[in-house]
Amino acid sequence: MYPLRRNRRLRSGKAIRSLVRETIIAPDDFLVPLFVVEGKGVKEEIASMPNYYRMSLDLLGKEVKELWKMGLKSVLLFVKVPDNLKDNKGTEALNPEGLMQRAIKTIKNACPEMLVMTDVALDPFSEYGHDGIVENGIILNDETAEVLAEMSVSHAEVGADFVAPSDMMDGRILSIREALEDADFFDTGIMSYSAKYASAFYGPFRDALDSAPVDAQNIPKDKKTYQMDPANRFEALKETEMDIDEGADIVMVKPGIAYLDIVREIKNEVDVPVAVYQVSGEYAMIKAAAEKGWLDHDAVMMEQLIAIKRAGANIIASYFAKDVVRLIS
Ligand code: PBG
Repeated sequence: MYPLRRNRRLRSGKAIRSLVRETIIAPDDFLVPLFVVEGKGVKEEIASMPNYYRMSLDLLGKEVKELWKMGLKSVLLFVKVPDNLKDNKGTEALNPEGLMQRAIKTIKNACPEMLVMTDVALDPFSEYGHDGIVENGIILNDETAEVLAEMSVSHAEVGADFVAPSDMMDGRILSIREALEDADFFDTGIMSYSAKYASAFYGPFRDALDSAPVDAQNIPKDKKTYQMDPANRFEALKETEMDIDEGADIVMVKPGIAYLDIVREIKNEVDVPVAVYQVSGEYAMIKAAAEKGWLDHDAVMMEQLIAIKRAGANIIASYFAKDVVRLIS
């Protein structure tokens, strides 16, 4: 009797393959990143992110209604702040009438059930493009965590369901949780970017928000003193466990495809949902190769997303969310 088992039986046709498939991508998996700008009727394509746009508030309502109809029920908000409103402390981030605050209200008005998560970090508001306050070439930790806590409360006040700190300061989850509790926002959740690596894959995003660290004397050129070294693994577990202890409801690994070993390891260790951010550079790579005719866009997109989910992601933040829903529905 040879072979004893014929594994190909389970691959022999479409029906049996779908019957034994272990991982399925659905609209429920996605968190849709949205980039918001000032202005009226603005829908600008991001140069390094083909078919992805920055949008003004008047178009945002229509966009989220469309997402909701497609079964995409959660958004992750980022704002592009005009240069004249940027400073070292991210003062504009706390403006009750700031762009983020107005964006949250706009979405909740247009589509009250849409789950609104907000990016909490200083970089879009920082004149230096850093996720924290800079002093003598150093990114200040505790002072930054305080601003992030105030920012979180300010988002909760206008209706954010979850805040998503993407800065990697130490102790910021605890500062944010305490500030939210003190302001009676017991039900406002925290999705922490827990294992966020100092990655070159964020390039197109920094174009989208014009938020790259500036080239000036005494300003660090990269984010390596707070984002993690791509070479490290134990550190990801430590960061994640600490964030959960401090009050994170959801943890995140970022970027996606190059860090799936970390995703699996964290998934095996923790008892909270694990999100993965398939970042701008991952999106740009697929778009660029497909434009050249070198890769099959839809097939590669699906393969990467399935790999992310198979590795343990419960939630995927992805610029492909709409493309996927169009493809599978
Ligand atoms: C900044 C932030 C970044 C991303 C999300 N929040 C960039 C960075 O850390 O420089 C990247 C997302 C992407 O590349 O798609 N706090």
